[in-house]
Amino acid sequence: MPTVTIAARKGGVGKTMTALMTSRWLARAGRDCTLVDLDPQRGLWDCATVLGCPDGRLTRRLRLAPDGRIPQPPTARHYTIIDTPPATDGLMPGLQAADYIVVPVIPEAQEMLALGKFLAVLDATRHERPCAKTLGVLPVRYVHHWRAHRECLVEVGRVAADHGIEVLDPVPHSQAVTRYSMAGGLWRSLASRLIALEPASQSAARAA
Ligand SMILES: Nc1ncnc2c1ncn2[C@@H]1O[C@H](COP(=O)(O)OP(=O)(O)OP(=O)(O)O)[C@@H](O)[C@H]1O
Ligand SMILES: [Mg+2]
Repeated sequence: MPTVTIAARKGGVGKTMTALMTSRWLARAGRDCTLVDLDPQRGLWDCATVLGCPDGRLTRRLRLAPDGRIPQPPTARHYTIIDTPPATDGLMPGLQAADYIVVPVIPEAQEMLALGKFLAVLDATRHERPCAKTLGVLPVRYVHHWRAHRECLVEVGRVAADHGIEVLDPVPHSQAVTRYSMAGGLWRSLASRLIALEPASQSAARAA
C-alpha cells in the first residue's frame, strides 16, 4: 500500500489534521494504516492523547508508529501516512519515502506565495524522488460562501496548474475539527481518492 506524505512550506495549514483524518477514513474503509509523526512538536501524538489513545493505538486498524520511524520497506498491507513539520527543502525524509505527496494550503493571499515556492522546491528536487507523485494541492479550512476564499481557490488552481498539479476537493472550515469528529465527512474525499488509486489486483485480493 502506498506511503502518503502530507507536506507544506507553511505551519498551521492543516498537515496534522489531514494526516489524522485521512487515515481515520482509510481505517474506517477497512484499510490498515500506520501514521508516522515526523514533526518534533509531536502533534499527532497530542491528537491521539486527546482521543484517549496516548499509546498511539487509535483503532484496530490505525496506529501511530511507536518509534516514529517510517516502515522500511513499506508494508504491502498497510497505508503509511506521514505528517511532517513545515518544510523549506525538498529532501526531508518524509518526502523521500513518499509514493504520493499531498500539499495542504489555506486559501489566503500570502499562502499562495508559500505554495508556489514549495511546489517549485518539489519540482527542483523531483529527481530525488523518481517514484513519488504529487497527488495534489488540498485547500483546507475553505469557506465557500466567502468570496475571498472562492477567489483564492481560483488562484490555487493557477499556481497548481503552473506545476502540472491538480487541486483536490477542498476541506471545508468546520468546528467539527475541534472535536476531531468524523460526522461532517471532512477529509473523506481524500481517503476515497487514495482508495480509487489502489491497483485492481489489491482490490480483488481484498474482495476474495
Ligand atoms: N477544516 C478545518 N476547519 C477548522 N479548523 C481546522 C481545519 N483544519 C485544521 N484546522 C485547525 O487549524 C489548526 C492548524 O491545523 P494543523 O495543526 O493540522 O496544522 P499543521 O499544518 O499541522 O500545523 P504545524 O505546522 O504547526 O504542525 C488547528 O487548530 C486545527 O484544528
Ligand atoms: Mg502539524
